[in-house]
Amino acid sequence: MSNPSLLILAGDGIGPEVMSQVRRIIDWYGENRSLAFDVSEDLVGGAAYDVHGVPLTDETMEKAQSVDAVLLGAVGGPKYDDLDFSVKPERGLLRLRKEMDLFSNLRPAQCFDALADFSSLKRDVVAGLDIVIVRELTSGIYFGEPRGIIQEGNERVGINTQRYTESEIERVARSAFELARRRGNKVCSMEKANVMESGILWREVVQKVHDEDYADVELSHMYADAGAMQLCRWPKQFDVIVTDNLFGDLLSDAAAMLTGSLGMLPSASLGAPMANGRPKALYEPVHGSAPDIAGQGKANPIACILSFAMALRYSFDQGDEASRLENAVEAVLADGARTADLLGEEGVTPVTTAEMGDRILAALDASL
Ligand code: NAD
Ligand code: IPM
Ligand code: MN
Repeated sequence: MSNPSLLILAGDGIGPEVMSQVRRIIDWYGENRSLAFDVSEDLVGGAAYDVHGVPLTDETMEKAQSVDAVLLGAVGGPKYDDLDFSVKPERGLLRLRKEMDLFSNLRPAQCFDALADFSSLKRDVVAGLDIVIVRELTSGIYFGEPRGIIQEGNERVGINTQRYTESEIERVARSAFELARRRGNKVCSMEKANVMESGILWREVVQKVHDEDYADVELSHMYADAGAMQLCRWPKQFDVIVTDNLFGDLLSDAAAMLTGSLGMLPSASLGAPMANGRPKALYEPVHGSAPDIAGQGKANPIACILSFAMALRYSFDQGDEASRLENAVEAVLADGARTADLLGEEGVTPVTTAEMGDRILAALDASL
């Protein structure tokens, strides 16, 4: 049988820096766990624009559709700020999500014990935190029509449309309930049903899916603004949060700070099952290309490494190997390894991106 296939799209800024550490870990699995992957690499975002004039070519799109999983670093950066909207780096990522139909984006926020003092919130509030935000990823205001900037009389109008069909809400709700059953069995759905019709429909459909098929899961509803407040006040009240594309984007960046750094948050974007029964999937850190630290060896590779752990679990049925990698990350943090985003303790010298990779590989060796 051929090896499972992985397409790596490292992208821009710190994307290639964090991805090179993931490459070492992929190689480690091939050498030490008989878990070899057929890895190919390609361009996305500004890196693709520089070569091809578009942030994602049709050929790369086709490759992404045909592999078992895609790993993505990050896209974007100030160099591309003035490009036409249609070829901005971010459009490449959005095209991948849309055309692969990756409707369910799992963004776990887990606070490792060793980092409980790194959050901007009190230790008590975050210690032991383990929640997942399920963000709808292929619809809502990111993709709704009409959209654009139009001339109306003597001024311009910027237009985006929030739009959700019942089936789009239903499928992401199902993925959240399924996930909750494997965890703390609790789902909180967030929208703004008090001011948005799409929010009214969202709440109705989530409730209906629950009552018909997931009555065993505890379901609550919250307005997304109150949800943002509750995430800061007492995040441990949540298990799984399910929400739309835009609210999920905002709430997951906020949740990142509960874990200590945006450099810690992985994600899995999952679609419908493929012929092999595994979901179509793309894995990427929640953070962006971090232009302020790019090229300096300062980036924290853990979000990208934990995204690969999610790939092991969700695309390759290797839950034990995923746990091995997560435990290795936890061990190096417990041992005091800190990239610069995680400083705050007296007298600790930061490790570089590559040194963090070295430590995690050593912890993997020690796990054998
Ligand atoms: P960002 O996530 O790139 O950076 C926000 C802050 O977090 C910066 O101070 C950065 O240094 C820090 N940071 C992020 N990741 C880090 C890591 N791994 N280690 C250490 N520090 C880290 O967000 P931004 O500055 O708002 O956006 C920069 C560019 O990235 C923009 O072009 C944006 O569109 C893009 N972006 C891309 C993605 C993606 O590819 N999925 C996600 C978010 C933003
Ligand atoms: C994210 C990013 C993306 C988003 C951008 C880069 C398109 O912020 O993955 O969270 O808004 O979804
Ligand atoms: Mn975001």
